[in-house]
Amino acid sequence: MTFSVYIHVPFCASRCGYCDFNTYTPAELSLPASPTVAQAAPNPASPAAYLDALEKELELAAASRASQGDTRPAETVFIGGGTPSMIGADGLARVLRAIQNTTGIAPGAEVTTEANPESTSPEFFEALARAGFTRVSLGMQSASASVLKVLERAHTPGRAFDAARQAGQFFEHVNLDMIYGTPTETDDDVRLTLEKVLETGVDHVSAYSLIVEDGTRMARKVRTGELPAPEEDVYADRYWMIDAALREAGFDWYEVSNWARPGGQCEHNLRYWRDADWWGAGPGAHSHLGERRFFNVKHPATYTKTIATGVLPIKDTETLSADQRHEEKLMLGLRLKEGVDEAVLSPRERAVSLRLSRLGLVRQAHGRIMLADDKRLLADGIIADILFDPE
Ligand SMILES: C[S@@+](CC[C@H](N)C(=O)[O-])C[C@H]1O[C@@H](n2cnc3c(N)ncnc32)[C@H](O)[C@@H]1O
Ligand code: SF4
Repeated sequence: MTFSVYIHVPFCASRCGYCDFNTYTPAELSLPASPTVAQAAPNPASPAAYLDALEKELELAAASRASQGDTRPAETVFIGGGTPSMIGADGLARVLRAIQNTTGIAPGAEVTTEANPESTSPEFFEALARAGFTRVSLGMQSASASVLKVLERAHTPGRAFDAARQAGQFFEHVNLDMIYGTPTETDDDVRLTLEKVLETGVDHVSAYSLIVEDGTRMARKVRTGELPAPEEDVYADRYWMIDAALREAGFDWYEVSNWARPGGQCEHNLRYWRDADWWGAGPGAHSHLGERRFFNVKHPATYTKTIATGVLPIKDTETLSADQRHEEKLMLGLRLKEGVDEAVLSPRERAVSLRLSRLGLVRQAHGRIMLADDKRLLADGIIADILFDPE
């Protein structure tokens, strides 16, 4: 079983109206508008305190794993957020050194960081490549200025494309995140976004249907009628538009929301879906080790204060039963184009799969079972049928 490391960076310059991730603006943490690592040191929620605590967490994590006989180095590393680029190239290089000095990083490992277009530059990307990063993931969302405004993104469309092109000068592997189905978005907005994405030459695209998360500013606007509610049919139409354009350009889907050129798949994310092990460090990060699932305290100040007492900042742990592990394995694996090994299915699940394959909902090939290409959007229902339908 392979091992990976995820690092959560819980800072954003401002909060996008749709986002409910575990991230905080400087104002929410009583920090100056643009905190630097040096400046904000005395605040327990500052980037400086966070980086010190993260180094310590990685030491504690490596010691805890070693005490269980687990010294596997990371085969993939992913720094996500929040906005990892807010800790700068120096901060990101420091995080990578800390992983190298504790967990260890396997030779040839994929090392990705997310970055927001407005906090990048050619010098930033060059420094990341020098530090050992191999891949960059940029949140672009849309090429339409009006859609970015509805999403309350902090950058213009042009900035995202410049950032992707600049990243491409230093990295073979660059991802752009798109969001589709935003209220007020038109088919032409999506067409323009796809055109621009393809112009940048990136080798990976993640496209997510907009989820109106409870408690966000967008949810309030939809509730009060200031914005129209997104429509399921529109989501489906836009998804197939995206799939067709990306396929025509030489991409293929490998997970329901992810497309890559040959060789451009994100190894780290593939490992999540293949049910591999990972340690998640940083506020609110989740970990997955064998049958154990655990996650950290969410607030950066609670996180740094807990680590200062010399213990791992774990908020809660769950040990999955064999049945729960099986369900999780199928729920993750069946979202992949490669599907899952038929041998892991129970006789009842195999009988249901056979019925679903006669209906054209799944395919069986080379001892594996996978979603039918054109039934990808029914993934949740198909997976539930396989897991729970009577024979
Ligand atoms: C949490 S962000 C972190 C990366 C970076 N801060 C950014 O915004 O690009 C990762 C991606 O999640 C997606 N995302 C976040 N909230 C979402 C929502 N409510 N619905 C759909 N996609 C969402 C966006 O596409 C975003 O690029
Ligand atoms: S920049 Fe990314 S993580 Fe931060 S609020 Fe926006 S979508 Fe969420």
